[in-house]
Amino acid sequence: MRILLIGSGAREHALARSLAADPATSALTVAPGNPGIAALADTADVQATDPAAVAALAQQLDADLVVVGPEAPLVAGVADAVRAAGIPVFGPDAAAARLEGSKAFAKEIMAAANVPTAMARVCRTIDEADDALDSFGAPHVVKDDGLAAGKGVVVTGDRQVAHDHAHGCVSRDRRSSVVVEEYLDGPEISLFCLSDGTHVVPLAPAQDFKRLGDGDTGPNTGGMGAYSPLPWAPADLTEQVVQRVALPTVRELARRGTPFVGLLYCGLALTSRGLRVVEFNARFGDPETQVVLARLESSLASALYAAATGQLDTLPDLRWSDDAAVTVVLASAGYPASSRSGDVITGVPAAEALDGVHVLHAGTGTAAGGLVTAGGRVLSVVGRGAGIAGARAAAYAGVQQIAIDGGQFRTDIAAGR
Ligand code: AMP
Ligand code: GLY
Repeated sequence: MRILLIGSGAREHALARSLAADPATSALTVAPGNPGIAALADTADVQATDPAAVAALAQQLDADLVVVGPEAPLVAGVADAVRAAGIPVFGPDAAAARLEGSKAFAKEIMAAANVPTAMARVCRTIDEADDALDSFGAPHVVKDDGLAAGKGVVVTGDRQVAHDHAHGCVSRDRRSSVVVEEYLDGPEISLFCLSDGTHVVPLAPAQDFKRLGDGDTGPNTGGMGAYSPLPWAPADLTEQVVQRVALPTVRELARRGTPFVGLLYCGLALTSRGLRVVEFNARFGDPETQVVLARLESSLASALYAAATGQLDTLPDLRWSDDAAVTVVLASAGYPASSRSGDVITGVPAAEALDGVHVLHAGTGTAAGGLVTAGGRVLSVVGRGAGIAGARAAAYAGVQQIAIDGGQFRTDIAAGR
């Protein structure tokens, strides 16, 4: 199978690593890729959010399958264009990607499909938002309706901060809106489900760490670390999510004539009142993918192809390693408010020489033959081992080998799990 993978983060490096090692893959091109990906696959230059350019590249490569990593190309209609060119694509059309692209749309689908989620109000004016903030009470949850790379959500006990964020969201333009919702307590879980538009196949559950600082302090980020499996989760968790969340959602989108083909990312809270959806994403999560794929023993290429071609019901059961996996994200100075480029990165080969450790690139570049920072999240160090403790020890042993000037990482990823 000739595969074109779109994206350039550590998630795509993880996908590329699995696809490159897969006997079902005969050729792999990643566009645009990054320096780590370039070491294991061909790379091509493309504007990832340009549907016509991606479709043209897929045709030129004679691709059998296109896999779209990030959300922005999906929301821009890249999957639509590739599908229109007659090439199977793992990734939803723009209409179905609205599940991630619009928080208000996601709420509408969940209501229609009777999927458990936080009570919410979609507000178009600051007066409506203030009213909703008062009626739900603290802690306040305020979500920008549009895509914001994990940074559009504010959870705060401070009424003024909540008001200010809501104000910023509704006043951006005439059509902008903000979602104000009930606070969900309890641990969060990410469960990825492959969907072919009709059938759903769950992957292994993971948990990510969204806040920048140890002890879940500081601002929300794209994710600072993750682990899988979740030894503490209820045994029937995956089945519950498939039956109560993923299947009803996929059926509702199919009913509307916009089937969801790709990765339905179910972000859930296990609250004292039961399972609730915190968010949907329309693509693999970053950094959860790094740990989920580190444990997958079945052919990823075959699974994604089955989803892209409506054949998930014929896919053999996925096999998972008994090992656990933990990833720790190394971010550049200033992240998440900004990111600093050009800082020298050392120690990646030494980390990779350790048993059970591999290093995935995100915001990296090369300068004078060496590796430098080129983005907010720079590297994902992945450790595998017996149990979470073993995987965690491997990941942090890897982190210890690496130095980035001004670099930031959490020291408590998967601690005590
Ligand atoms: P989202 O982009 O919707 O996933 O929100 C980002 C993060 O904000 C989530 O992963 C949660 O940690 C937090 N969050 C979102 N919605 C809620 C909620 N209703 N209650 C508590 N925390 C939330
Ligand atoms: N790790 C959260 C996300 O991918 O959105």
